[in-house]
Amino acid sequence: MAPMRRKTLVVGNWKMNPGTLAEAKAIFLAIRRAADALTRTEALVCVPAPFIEALSRLARGHRIGVAAQDVFWRNGGAFTGEISPEMLRSVGATGVLVGHSERRREGESDEIVARKALAALREGLSVILCVGERARDPDGAYLPALKTQLLASLAGVSRRYLHALIVAYEPVFAVGASFKNALTPREAEEMAIFIKRVLTDEYGEESVRRIPILYGGSVYWKNAAGFVSDGAVAGLLAGRESLDVEDFRNILKEIDAA
Ligand code: PGA
Repeated sequence: MAPMRRKTLVVGNWKMNPGTLAEAKAIFLAIRRAADALTRTEALVCVPAPFIEALSRLARGHRIGVAAQDVFWRNGGAFTGEISPEMLRSVGATGVLVGHSERRREGESDEIVARKALAALREGLSVILCVGERARDPDGAYLPALKTQLLASLAGVSRRYLHALIVAYEPVFAVGASFKNALTPREAEEMAIFIKRVLTDEYGEESVRRIPILYGGSVYWKNAAGFVSDGAVAGLLAGRESLDVEDFRNILKEIDAA
């Protein structure tokens, strides 16, 4: 029997949108309809925390998951304004983005990212860990820098949690930028292979083989399928386009057909 193909994962990141729960529900229901028609693709949307409970109710029994965009690094305590892994799980989130470049830009260090990742994994959430270089230099110094960022963002995370880890590679210059700034499928593939190699050197082949490496940064329906066609990139992380129902549905369709 041929080995079963792992489903391609498409993650949407709504960022700090939309403005109301009513709009969030309307967008979610439209995406849900498209997700239910997928056969080879899994859809997950990372939504603002106040919408998680209502949207995860709507997700029940459907082929779409709801995840958070950030999490605090421990459960309980005097941390005004923070949201714990336990809280996220209790309202139905199945996962969380950690270390998105827009949070790193606000000062989140690799050390904080690693604490958050570990706390979420311990809680049984899947973690979509975002990494990526800010810019590229002709000498390739961005590669060892990316390696350092990746390993530092996983400091303290042991092998036994890796089954719930997803890595989203997002070069910062491509996030929220012109679609022309997206990497080419070939470049994304090389980076996914590089990331796999770094993780394999650290944790061993057996534990790393099944970690999905996603590409993110100016993904839209026209470039989506190219990224996943050769297998090194296991899925996509789409920002802007995940809020536009038509565009996100087209991404899902393209990926499912790829
Ligand atoms: P973008 O954002 O698709 O709008 O470039 C990507 C992201 O939020 O990670």
